[in-house]
Amino acid sequence: MKILILNGPNLNLLGRRQPEIYGSKSMEEILGDITRAYPETEIEYFQSNHEGELIDALHRAWLHDNVSGIVFNAGAYTHTSIALADAIAAVEIPVVEVHLSNVSAREPVRRQSMIAPVCCGTIAGFGADSYRLGVEALLKMLCKE
Ligand code: DQA
Repeated sequence: MKILILNGPNLNLLGRRQPEIYGSKSMEEILGDITRAYPETEIEYFQSNHEGELIDALHRAWLHDNVSGIVFNAGAYTHTSIALADAIAAVEIPVVEVHLSNVSAREPVRRQSMIAPVCCGTIAGFGADSYRLGVEALLKMLCKE
């Protein structure tokens, strides 16, 4: 089974960007932890700072790459992007929304997610572990199908 972990803007700086909010682990370390936790699952990773590239990645995962599910941290696009919400609604594979920080406890603008209604669930506030929990939730869901 293939799972795509998709990261949006500024998440290429993970480990160095505001570590008091987002933690000090790099994405490479987080991916290493996930690969060790789920050795039988193929984990793909893609990050972009550009909205259109994230939309292309969602389309590609569904149309060409035989991806079974997506763990998506859309970064700040979470709070603004109808285009990403449309792309998630279009692809016929489950998408779990994840955030490192507890967005519900932050500024009012971060309490709204444009993508939550079209995702199958949201995991937020567990730091780097949010990604692993997202993969776990997806695998449980997909194996039940
Ligand atoms: C984030 C939360 C967003 O509000 C923010 O813009 C990010 C990271 C998180 O993982 O906590 O870039 O998605």
